[in-house]
Amino acid sequence: MLRIVVCVSGGGTNLQAIIDGVKNGQISNTEIVQVISNNGNAYALKRAEENGIPGICVSPKDYEDREAFNDALLETVKRAAPDLIVLAGFLVVVPEKMIAEYRNKIINIHPSLIPSFCGKGYYGLKVHEGVLERGVKVTGATVHFVDEGTDTGPIILQRPVEVEDGDTAETLQKRVMEQAEWILLPEAVDAIANGRVEVKDGRCRILKNRKDRGVS
Ligand code: GAR
Repeated sequence: MLRIVVCVSGGGTNLQAIIDGVKNGQISNTEIVQVISNNGNAYALKRAEENGIPGICVSPKDYEDREAFNDALLETVKRAAPDLIVLAGFLVVVPEKMIAEYRNKIINIHPSLIPSFCGKGYYGLKVHEGVLERGVKVTGATVHFVDEGTDTGPIILQRPVEVEDGDTAETLQKRVMEQAEWILLPEAVDAIANGRVEVKDGRCRILKNRKDRGVS
């Protein structure tokens, strides 16, 4: 069983997609052992509670400085003994210590086709505002491993979504979630849980599952 910790900051619809995936069997071999939020009011914590998953808030506001917060975050993660950490709308810069300790064991969902509209300052609605301002016709979402850069780690999965006439950042965000994020994130977790993701020279390869390979 892959033990996963899910880190969240807000509404938690991507967390919900993982919870649903585990329940309906789309994600196999996986247990969500802990949800961590940096924001005590995040609706994501309510989703965890409603589904009997331990939830905890680790907020920078409760610590003297960034280093103390980073240490507390890492300690909380370690206590849950995860095999994989999933950043599902976690709007906190992950401490370098954590990245080093969990190399290729932290994944993030980003609401654009990396390397477009990513990096510093591109998060949440700001990504979709950037897409509309530039006038691109296709956007999408990306699941990637987390390294020391911002949105620079090996790409696991991507899915395109069309930008439509009259889109606002909000309508586009909703479509990207529905048509890409909520599909990709469960797919990535399932692939990792079943040993189908290989990382070599900074690039990922997804091995087909046994059924697709014709193995029963
Ligand atoms: C999602 O759109 C996710 O891709 C984005 O925040 C939203 C969280 O929604 N993450 C980033 O922008 C990270 N750079 P949710 O709380 O409903 O899952």
